[in-house]
Amino acid sequence: MTNPLPVLLDVDTGGDDALALLLALASPALDVRGITCVAGNCALKQVVANTLTLLDAINAPPVPVAAGMDRPILEPGLSAPALHGSDGMGDLGLPAPQRTEVDLHAVEFLRRALADAAEPVTLICLAPLTNIAMLLRLYPRIGDRIERLYVMGGTFAAPGNTTPAAEFNVRYDPEAAAIVLHSGLPVTLYPLDPFMQVRLTKEEAEKLTQAKGAGARIAGGIALHYCRFFGMDFSLIGDAGTVATVIDPAGAASERRPLHVELSSGAARGATVFDRRIITDGFAREGEWTDVDVVTRVDAARYRKLMATALGAAEALDDKRK
Ligand code: BDR
Ligand code: CA
Repeated sequence: MTNPLPVLLDVDTGGDDALALLLALASPALDVRGITCVAGNCALKQVVANTLTLLDAINAPPVPVAAGMDRPILEPGLSAPALHGSDGMGDLGLPAPQRTEVDLHAVEFLRRALADAAEPVTLICLAPLTNIAMLLRLYPRIGDRIERLYVMGGTFAAPGNTTPAAEFNVRYDPEAAAIVLHSGLPVTLYPLDPFMQVRLTKEEAEKLTQAKGAGARIAGGIALHYCRFFGMDFSLIGDAGTVATVIDPAGAASERRPLHVELSSGAARGATVFDRRIITDGFAREGEWTDVDVVTRVDAARYRKLMATALGAAEALDDKRK
């Protein structure tokens, strides 16, 4: 067996960030070295509280949690999306956390965790990129210690979800996204296209809430919350798909494409523009462009199974579904 991959997760927990944390912490393929929190789905204080609450609820080992940036670099934060519930994590009524965050700003925590690691560490970024942008600007040489960044953000061919053109994590802090995605570090972007693909049905979510493991029960509760909020008979695993891509890259199809993060004010702010033309040589391309690997689609059945199996609840899935 190969050694687990050392990873750090940057989150705005957030119901689907909670699903991602549940998968990462349950997977023997990953060694979670720390979790950093940033404002996004909810205010920073709530993100930290939700993350600690989740770790307590599954009796997780003492993974350090650090609080980071409480707003975007330039703009005031967007107001929190209602879809995640009044506590930002599906209103499951979990007990208040006993554990506390570390006494270190997330950016400083990341610097130390990366500098102290024996080998370069993979960053899994599931939130606005403010913490990571600040890290790269404050410590420009730290990039040598980063194996790869897996970033949930943007869109490839899909429409936006926050504006017609832009996805939430990039639109919340476009300047931070531009700093990180144009850094030249190895980036795998997990945009809304695959994000929308991996689903759990309402029946599966209900079965998960009856599972033996606390992680599976919480995942079921969160999925049911989203089904109810949207009045749908399915829910997405969302950010957890990014973690699945790290654990099982063979389940994802990706392309290497030039990417531009649009920073102008107006309708296109926060859009991720990919050069998808067949012939580009000799044709104009204005603004800043950087090659990234972008996940265009995933094997949804494979990732559903990966998630449910990691949570010890494979029997909750309807095998016939894709
Ligand atoms: C992203 O925004 C948040 O609502 C989700 O947690 C995810 O990271 C999707 O646009
Ligand atoms: Ca998120």
